[in-house]
Formats: sequence, C-alpha cells, structure tokens
Amino acid sequence: MSTPQTGIFALGDAAHIYLEFTVTPGTTPEALVRKVVSIHEPRTTVGGVNAVIGFRPEIWRAVAADDTPAELSGFNAPLAGAEGYSMPATQADLWLWIAGASYDVVFDLAREAIATVAPCATVTRELDGWSYRHSRDLTGFEDGTENPALMIAPEVATIPEGAPGAGGTVLLFQQWVHQTSAWEALPVEQQERVIGRTKADSTEFPEDVMPEDSHVSRTTVDENGEERKIFRRNTAYGNVTEHGTVFVGFSADQQRLDRMLRRMAGAEGGVRDALTRYTTALTGAYYFVPSLQALRRFAVEDDA
Ligand code: HEM
Repeated sequence: MSTPQTGIFALGDAAHIYLEFTVTPGTTPEALVRKVVSIHEPRTTVGGVNAVIGFRPEIWRAVAADDTPAELSGFNAPLAGAEGYSMPATQADLWLWIAGASYDVVFDLAREAIATVAPCATVTRELDGWSYRHSRDLTGFEDGTENPALMIAPEVATIPEGAPGAGGTVLLFQQWVHQTSAWEALPVEQQERVIGRTKADSTEFPEDVMPEDSHVSRTTVDENGEERKIFRRNTAYGNVTEHGTVFVGFSADQQRLDRMLRRMAGAEGGVRDALTRYTTALTGAYYFVPSLQALRRFAVEDDA
C-alpha cells in the first residue's frame, strides 16, 4: 500500500511557507533526497506542523526510476500561448511546503529545514502564504469550490496503486501577482464573467451563459468524455501593495495540469483565460511529491 504525504490533505492551516531550492554543485540526487528526508517535523499534535516534500521530476527519477511516472518532466521551458502571451518556467530542484496553525511554528521549522539541507541545496525562492477570509482568493472570489471532497481527493490527486509512483502526486506550483487596481475597476458582473461563477456565493454560471474565456471554462478538461479533476491548495500571499495567489495544484497525472495551463494560455483552443489579463504568473514549476513509503526508503533507520 502507498500512502500520500499527509500534509497535502491537511486543510485549515492559516500559515504557510513555500521554499524552492537549487542543488549545490557536486551533490548527487541521492545525497539530496537522504538529507531532505532527515528533516524532523515536530512530533506533537497541537503545536505540530505539516511538511510536504517535492522534487524536480528528473531528480526523483535519478534515485527511483521505477517509482516515477513515465512521462513526467519539469517546467523546463516557458509556455507560449495566444496573442504573444507566455508563462515563465522557473523550475527548481526541491520544494518544501510547511504549514501550521500560526506563523511562529512554520517559521521555526522552515529555518531548521534550511539548515538541515544546507550542505546539499540553497534556497532560490521563498514565499509566505496565508488564508484570506476563510477560503477566498485575493480577487474576492471563493477558491476551491470545485475541489473534490476529502473523501475522494486522495484518489483524484494521487497515482493509483500498481502504477509507477503510486501514492505520489504531481504538483504544479506558481506564484501569480494580481493587477489589483485593474481588477477592482471591473464591475462585479464583469469579474463574475471572468471567473465563470458568482462572487457572493460561488454559483457556477449555467452552460448557456458561461463565457468561453472564463477561468472555469478554460480549466475544465475532459478526457474520453470524463472530466479530469485536480486538488488545489492555493493560498494568498504578499502585502497590501503587492499580492496575489500561490497556486498549489496536485494531480494524479501531469497531463491534465499541462492541459489546464495550455488552455489558460490559449495554446490549446486558441482562447486565452480572461483571468490572465488581471493576474500574471511570475513563476512556474512541476514537482513530484512521492509517497511516504517511497521517501522512507531514503531515511536512516533511526528516523524511519
Ligand atoms: C491567479 C491564479 C488563479 C486564481 C486567482 C484562480 C481562482 C479560481 C477560482 C476563483 C475558481 C472558482 C472556484 C473554484 O472552483 O475553486 C477557480 C477554479 C478552478 N481553477 Fe483556478 N485560479 C488560478 C489559477 C489556476 C491555475 C493555474 C489552474 C490550473 C493549472 C487552475 C485550475 C482551476 C480549476 C481546475 C478550477 C475548477 C474548475 C471547475 O471544475 O469548475 N486555476 N480558480
């Protein structure tokens, strides 16, 4: 049996730190993985934190080729869309997400994690996420309405038993900065057409009035007549003058994430997501988030 990393599904945390690291030259993939697995999360319940670990797909494949989805690759080139639009590729080697009830506990663990992996990797980017009005994005819209319920989310978001990488998941991680003044200059009815849902209660537009370029239209993907879902754990980031969305999307395969992005950019279907006119992707990376059993193979015995 393969168990996904539990923090992926641990809802309700108010404070988040996301760290992306670059491997130090001369460090082997195995040395990196062993070091990361040795990070000690606090083993208490109330003051505890959730830590989730992801690797550049090519790095994980180098240590566990049989336990990596076949086609998985990093966000290694910008994604070009319609009208000269493009999303940047800023792939790093290692991703850590530390989440907890308050900022002090995630701060302490993040510092400890950085110190632990310091011989093997250094921080390239750091982002703090926080929850805004329970589950709203900084556009003011509820984010996560169409997320699968926790009863089925692990099935939707993780690789099934028997397939390479079972219990693992593919993460798309992006920082989006909002053009808040332009967004807030739009009347609410127009904002709703951009998203494809109402602002107050997140009701989806009926099919006959759903704009083709709405965010909901662009991110709804079908394969063989069946809708393909992902599990999103987005948070707000930033300060009052510059802020946006940390997009944290988990999927059982890379293809549906890639298709959502391509549809947003207008690379598939030729229609660009209206939301991309009010928020800009600053970063973009894919990480493989292995199962607990896959990670534990790299733990020293005392830690396992
Ligand atoms: C600034 C960036 C983004 C913002 C502010 C944003 C916001 C939203 C909002 C408000 C909704 C409607 C409520 C809901 O179902 O959660 C939504 C839906 C959704 N978004 Fe995003 N999103 C962003 C980026 C992305 C990206 C990059 C992807 C995928 C690659 C994505 C995938 C989805 C999906 C799959 C849905 C549900 C569609 C459905 O089945 O109705 N979003 N998003």
